[in-house]
Amino acid sequence: MMDLVIPDKTHDESRQGEALVLEPVTGKNNGRKLYIESYGCAMNFSDSEIVASILSEQGFETTADHNAADVIFINTCSIRENAEQRVRNRLKEFTVSKVKNPGLVVGVLGCMAERLKSKFLEEEKLVDVVVGPDAYRDLPNLIDQVDSGQKAVNVLLSREETYADISPVRLNSNGINAFVSIMRGCDNMCSFCVVPFTRGRERSRDPQSIVAECTDLFNKGYREVTLLGQNVDSYKWNATAESETPNAEASSAETTNFANLLELVALISPELRVRFSTSHPKDITDDVLYTINKYDNICNYIHLPVQSGNSRILEMMNRTYDREWYINRIDAIRRIIPDCAISTDMITGFCSETDEEHNDSVSMMDYVKYDFAYMFKYSERPGTLAAKRYKDDIPEEVKQSRLAQIVAKQQEYSFYRMQARIGKVEKVLIEGYSKKADKDYCGRSDQNAMVIFPVGDNYKPGEYVNVLIERTTSATLIGKVV
Ligand code: SAH
Ligand code: SF4
Ligand code: F3S
Repeated sequence: MMDLVIPDKTHDESRQGEALVLEPVTGKNNGRKLYIESYGCAMNFSDSEIVASILSEQGFETTADHNAADVIFINTCSIRENAEQRVRNRLKEFTVSKVKNPGLVVGVLGCMAERLKSKFLEEEKLVDVVVGPDAYRDLPNLIDQVDSGQKAVNVLLSREETYADISPVRLNSNGINAFVSIMRGCDNMCSFCVVPFTRGRERSRDPQSIVAECTDLFNKGYREVTLLGQNVDSYKWNATAESETPNAEASSAETTNFANLLELVALISPELRVRFSTSHPKDITDDVLYTINKYDNICNYIHLPVQSGNSRILEMMNRTYDREWYINRIDAIRRIIPDCAISTDMITGFCSETDEEHNDSVSMMDYVKYDFAYMFKYSERPGTLAAKRYKDDIPEEVKQSRLAQIVAKQQEYSFYRMQARIGKVEKVLIEGYSKKADKDYCGRSDQNAMVIFPVGDNYKPGEYVNVLIERTTSATLIGKVV
């Protein structure tokens, strides 16, 4: 039986790359096969679907077997040193294939391509093409250049590109959940972060194209969309911005903010679940929270990265909020959205962090009791504000022991949150068979917890069921349909 489980790709930059498979496009086949492997965040996975779409127009068919490929692309992540190291190791394997098959085209896409630009070609001599995240429309030309014996690079960043008109080819899809990019880039300049350099300026995508894409997904049977951006709360579209006759009054009346966009997508159908990521503590408004609460199909789950629980460290990180502000936002979520799951990202061992300051991160965990957290050791990234201004002075063992401490603490709270669901009935969207057994289905609850329950005759993937939770592991709820 085919395994239909799609992992929660939303924030897990650390997992291994995946081969993404695309059905051949009939009638337009150029006889060449494309293999794409993606690393990093959901934005990158979403971008790979755009790349696949652009190249399928050119007649490329994708393959899950890189040995059968004529073109190998690796869509890369730069977020931490070890993310880049993983890509380099993988590239070595591909370039070995290239020695055997000199006609093979090997390309590097995404954030590492943007960060290293043509330096990549000097460092990794067997790479043929380097393409940044805003230059994918140029891929057909770049492949032509390589075919004619040259190396090809396009790492131009754009202030406008949102690929709004390209309908992504859904790769490795279960036909139920899809990612939809609503914006690109980031203007925040958190001092530790490479993303503003690799993805460029923030720009929002036309809400009509977002609603059209989500409606189309719904009509094709999809039942959940996750709206993606580095900071979805700063989504902003000015309807007249593009028009010939700018008019200040009309434009303010026609501005779509994130709360408005959520509402537009929620109204497509009550049967379409809406999720989103990532929220930023400085920008998440009560309006957004009221909108989440107003619509049953907007899931009660917010990923709200805190990074640190200490105000001095937050200031050095240039996060532009402090501990009190973050707590105020948590309190607002608890007040406005009853029963909302909250997850976070946390960094240990940022420059000059003391034990006491680290303890503020720990006490923030005690305050929020996060349902889930992604936790990282600080990794200095070349070119960032922190790399320029501060010394990466916390010893590796200290970073590691602080990380181990918060990981252990989070395990307790994840378990606590899971246990609290025992005896409750969860509305679950069935995503497919559970990883381990064909006898079980899995799907996620409104609060984004994975739920496992026995397969039955009266329900199938893509449908909602009510599941009574009987027991849990630290990461999964287990129950039966009622
Ligand atoms: N836009 C999101 C985060 C995107 S990057 C936000 O603002 O929250 C995902 C996570 O990687 C970040 O939240 C942060 O916790 C982590 N991260 C980013 N840069 C890092 C670095 N240099 N070292 C360690 N972790 C980092
Ligand atoms: Fe990086 Fe900060 Fe932008 Fe998130 S908000 S992508 S952490 S700069
Ligand atoms: Fe995402 Fe990594 Fe780039 S987290 S935006 S792929 S640096």
